[in-house]
Amino acid sequence: MNFYSKDKHNAFDSREVAQWIAFGPVIFQAARILRNSGILQEISDSRKEGLTIEEIVEKVKISTYGVRVLLESGLGMGLVLLNEKKYTLGKVGFFILSDALTKVNMDFVHDVNYQGLFHLEESIKTGKPEGLKTFGTWNTVYEALSQLPEHVQKSWFNFDHFFSDDAFQDVLPMVYKDGVKNILEIGGNTGKWAIASANYNPDIHVTIMDLPGQLNVAKQKIADLGLNDRVSFLEANLLDESLKLEKGFDAIWMSQFLDCFSEPEIVSILKRCYDSLDENGQVIIMEPFWDCQKYEIASFVLQQTSLYFTAVANGNSQMYSAETFLKCVTQAGFEVVEQIDNIGISQTILKCKKIK
Ligand SMILES: C[S@@+](CC[C@H](N)C(=O)[O-])C[C@H]1O[C@@H](n2cnc3c(N)ncnc32)[C@H](O)[C@@H]1O
Repeated sequence: MNFYSKDKHNAFDSREVAQWIAFGPVIFQAARILRNSGILQEISDSRKEGLTIEEIVEKVKISTYGVRVLLESGLGMGLVLLNEKKYTLGKVGFFILSDALTKVNMDFVHDVNYQGLFHLEESIKTGKPEGLKTFGTWNTVYEALSQLPEHVQKSWFNFDHFFSDDAFQDVLPMVYKDGVKNILEIGGNTGKWAIASANYNPDIHVTIMDLPGQLNVAKQKIADLGLNDRVSFLEANLLDESLKLEKGFDAIWMSQFLDCFSEPEIVSILKRCYDSLDENGQVIIMEPFWDCQKYEIASFVLQQTSLYFTAVANGNSQMYSAETFLKCVTQAGFEVVEQIDNIGISQTILKCKKIK
């Protein structure tokens, strides 16, 4: 679906959209504080009755001035409505307050990206995640993850898991249907897929490969669940081109992993997968491609998420279009034998085999 072939705005509303962009950071922060301060919740609890500004001030213990500027910004955004001096919740306010996707995205943008994005322009110039320095000195966010402040880690993991977790149950039968028993999971993170796999079928063995910080969390979780004989661990940095992959796996599974790398790096990782698999081996990839989405808003979320990779994560990767990504797959010597779109919120599965 090409959402982008026609301009959907007329001149009048284009200028309005341009103002929303110009004031983007302002309305973002105001909406977030309206949510976090309890103002939206109090207004929501008052239902159709609504609350006066004095009543809101009394309930949230913020100055009249503070509540007023936030609410007036909220009026402009459609978060709240005002009738006869009483504020009620608008539809957009309802989603800011209660929608899980919106909450996860807003927390991720604020806690992980907001300050780092100030360095976006620099990152585009250098190809490095210049915004990561707002947290410390690392090459990529993945090396930093286990050392970031707790609330930042929480928002990062909530975001990451939100987009893959709900797909896992649908995907398990697709991955294991061809008799795959011994699987290597690259970028296994905190072990969610490995645990889901072990619970899915007692004959499956998963080997998780990841950086030490994430692997240690996975090891602890797997041990707590008594799954040590079902899951193995390999500590590795896939950016090290000299690192070869072990042979003997039926399949290699990578979920939301290859988007952490530039196109040449993706090709290098896939080539090493190629060398480690026998001729029947499969690489199974789960990725959210922005050009495979049913709804334009899903593409929008992915397109904007790309800038997290630019400014904070690594400086050189993104949420890819399938068009760009599939070229890397072919370049590494694989053909896609099956592509299944629209899994979970936004995922695509690619089953790849070696080109004979
Ligand atoms: C976005 S998370 C995906 C996690 C999980 N597979 C999922 O679907 O939710 C990417 C994972 O890749 C790992 N990773 C990133 N760069 C890596 C590298 N150079 N070597 C090994 N693992 C890496 C990260 O530590 C993280 O666990």
